[in-house]
Amino acid sequence: MIHLDRYPREVSLRNGARLVFRPMVPEDVDRLWAFFRMIPPEDRMFFRQDVSRRDVVQRWADTLDYETVLPILALEGDRVVGDATLHRQKAGWKQRVGVVRIQVAPDYRHQGLGTAMIRELRHLGEKAALRYLMAEILEEQDAAVRAFEKLGFRHAAVYRNFANDQKGHMHNLVVLLYHMASAPADDMSL
Ligand SMILES: CC(C)(COP(=O)(O)OP(=O)(O)OC[C@H]1O[C@@H](n2cnc3c(N)ncnc32)[C@H](O)[C@@H]1OP(=O)(O)O)[C@@H](O)C(=O)NCCC(=O)NCCS
Repeated sequence: MIHLDRYPREVSLRNGARLVFRPMVPEDVDRLWAFFRMIPPEDRMFFRQDVSRRDVVQRWADTLDYETVLPILALEGDRVVGDATLHRQKAGWKQRVGVVRIQVAPDYRHQGLGTAMIRELRHLGEKAALRYLMAEILEEQDAAVRAFEKLGFRHAAVYRNFANDQKGHMHNLVVLLYHMASAPADDMSL
């Protein structure tokens, strides 16, 4: 079990904005739904579910189980500006592998928030005694590939024409892996 007593946690961005990181709670449905509606269609096209539907977000809230999916929200005041999730399996051979996803509001990008959220996920992965973090990213999402690489994730595989977007077009999927033991001791500070 991951102890969540470090939250709420304050984080400053390069432009001086002060955000709070904390786990999603059921009362966040409308905030999170508003966040997803701000995501440009070209990014939303790659989502696994149709997050423009409130009932989809409501279902997440109704079934929150941090041991399976831990969503960390970045908030400025009452507004959600970032969402990072750590997905885990409670049993089986993937128990020590965490799958990570991040999403930053367009007007908060390039300020270090994505980096801070990936660091947060690495920290949580460490606390959960995971061996690997895995990010699955469509090749076109080069900002995301670079953001993960910058923090030590390495290309493990490229699956050609593997993933379909919401219009049915096929894309290459890049699998990036982070080996937890490779975390520098002083790099968990953000
Ligand atoms: C990927 C994403 C989360 C990055 O968030 P961000 O807050 O802009 O990230 P940062 O400001 O910390 O930037 C991290 C690094 O990403 C890279 N990067 C950011 N924007 C970039 C862009 N438009 N083009 C190329 N590289 C970019 C840079 O290497 C940057 O490091 P630097 O600032 O030291 O140069 C954001 O672009 C996003 O939400 N994209 C859509 C969703 C997505 O692709 N999610 C990944 C699926 S898991």
